[in-house]
Formats: sequence, structure tokens, C-alpha cells
Amino acid sequence: MKINLANIKKAKKILDKSDCIAVPTETVYGLAGNAYSDKACKKIFRLKKRPKYNPLIVHYYSIKNLKKDCKLNENFFKLYKKFCPGPITFILELNKKSRISKFVTNNKNNLAVRFPNHPIFKKLLKNLKYPLAAPSANLSSKVSAVCSNDVKEDFGKKIKFILEGGRSSIGLESTIIDIRNKPRVLRLGGLEISKIKRILNRNIQISIHSQSISSPGQFKLHYSPGIPIRLNQKKVDKDEALIVIKKTKQDKKNFYYLSKSGDLKEAAKNLYSTLRKIKKNGYKSIAVSKISNFGLGKTINDRLKRASKYK
Ligand code: TXA
Ligand code: MG
Repeated sequence: MKINLANIKKAKKILDKSDCIAVPTETVYGLAGNAYSDKACKKIFRLKKRPKYNPLIVHYYSIKNLKKDCKLNENFFKLYKKFCPGPITFILELNKKSRISKFVTNNKNNLAVRFPNHPIFKKLLKNLKYPLAAPSANLSSKVSAVCSNDVKEDFGKKIKFILEGGRSSIGLESTIIDIRNKPRVLRLGGLEISKIKRILNRNIQISIHSQSISSPGQFKLHYSPGIPIRLNQKKVDKDEALIVIKKTKQDKKNFYYLSKSGDLKEAAKNLYSTLRKIKKNGYKSIAVSKISNFGLGKTINDRLKRASKYK
């Protein structure tokens, strides 16, 4: 997608005034504001109806800027070199002198940090004098947005500007890893754990069901389209939509395919838009056929399982 410089300029102008805009990323769209500004960060929480104890991810253009705010370690450099920019978020220790707003972290001394890999978002970050705090651009506990229309659906005119960046290429949020001590994954995401293991050359603890609120992507109900979801189903009720990972000969009006060939990357990319589409088409519930629990399939199953807690 071509970068429209007038749009970048407009985005910068709004952000420089400590207001919020929506930004495209390769994972999902974000609701962004100046991470050094209390005013901007408070507004993000308000718009998203997000509880203030749920911290935000801060997006950086380069390590040079990050160094001012966080302590970096060997594991960080290893993973950064291999996967950044990309769908991985690091939990790091904050520097005492960091300028990050206390609203971002809810006064804690650690920070979630990501280097997004979307040309338009990168261009914007490069032009700013501050990093951007940005949670996913959806209302709290609902399905994330993967295109500008999804953002409009959730926020209407409440967001001043949406920086257009086409459809998110990954379609699932970043994988979150706490690397302050022993590496620990807090949220499954767009980067497979097996790839992280290979680089760190060690086993990694996975704490995605923790009761504490260290990462509310871990909350039980999340990513919900607002109608009940039943998992691992072979049969579908008459008025129900069925989500299937791969196109089969049996094609019915209420069948929704995540991929033509069963490709997990394609399925991930289509997951959230399919959930939104089914809701829009008026179905009152969703059945999902079994999805292999491998690679990105694990993240897809994690999201569907949390979405299925809706009653
Ligand atoms: O792909 C993504 O990560 C997208 C794009 C916009 O970058 N962002 C995103 O943000 O998914 P959000 O706010 O929807 O989810 C961030 C998750 C939340 O579950 C939050 O609790 C967790 O990250 N988190 C943020 N800061 C944290 C911290 N310091 N320690 C532990 N978890 C943290
Ligand atoms: Mg979110």
C-alpha cells in the first residue's frame, strides 16, 4: 500500500495535541496516543472503556528510542534481531528516568513494548518525538479490528482520525513474552512459540491462564463477537453459523471458511472478520468445527475458547 504523506501529517498533528487516532498494524488496528502524555493515555482508556489496571503496549520505531525508557537484556537482543519489527511484545523493566505516562503501566515498573511492522505505522512513528501507546482498537472484551471499517463500527465518530492502512496482514494480536527473568509467554499471538524457543534455545514457560491480572489478554471472556460460540462441533443447528477451517465440498449458506486450503496463516487472518461477519448477518450463535492445535492454530483456539465464555 502506498504511503499517503498528507495522512501521516494529519495523524501527527492530532497526536502532537495529545489526542488519539486509530493506526494500522500488521497484527490488528490500534487506538494510539502519545505514551509520554497523561492526557492522551487517559483518553485511550476512556474511549476503549478499559479498566485502568489493564496496562497498554507501547510502540517504538527503534531501539535507540526504547533505550531511554527500558532496561534491555541479552534475550531481548536475540529476539529483537530475529523477529523485529513484527508480532512480538516484550515485557521489560522501566528505567527510573523513563518519561512513560504512569497511566500506561498503572504505576507499575514494567512496560510492554512492541516494534510494529506496518509501513504506514512505521513512517508515522519515525516522524514523532515520542512512542505510541496503543491497545487494540476495539471496545474492551470484544473482537479486535483488522480494518478501518471495524474501527468505525466500534467507535463511530468518537475517534478523530483513522490512518488507513488496508487489512492487517496477520490478523491476530502479538505474542507477549516477559523476558525480565526466565522467559514466560503471557499471551499466545501471531508469532509461534516454537520459533521463539528455537532462538532462545530453551524451554519457555507459558502462563496464559494466570489468575492475576498481569496480562488481561488472559481474561477468560475476551475477543467476543457478542453471541454464544460452541467449540469442536461436528453438527450445526438450523439457525446457527458454522466456522470451518477448510473449504469442503459440502457448502451451505451458513458455512464460513477461514481458509480455502486449511492454511493456518490464512485462517488467522480471517478469524476476526469472520466473527464480525457472522454477527452482522444476524446469526444468534456460532458452532466451530475442530481446528488443529498446532502453530497458529493454538492462538486461534485460544481466542475462540475465550470468546466461547460469552453466555
Ligand atoms: O498486536 C498487538 O499487540 C496489538 C497492536 C495494536 O499492537 N495490541 C494489543 O493491545 O493487542 P491490547 O491492549 O489489546 O492487548 C495488550 C495486552 C493486554 O492483555 C495487557 O494486559 C497486556 O498486553 N499488557 C500490557 N502491558 C503489560 C505489562 N506491562 N505486563 C503484562 N501484560 C501487559
Ligand atoms: Mg485487545
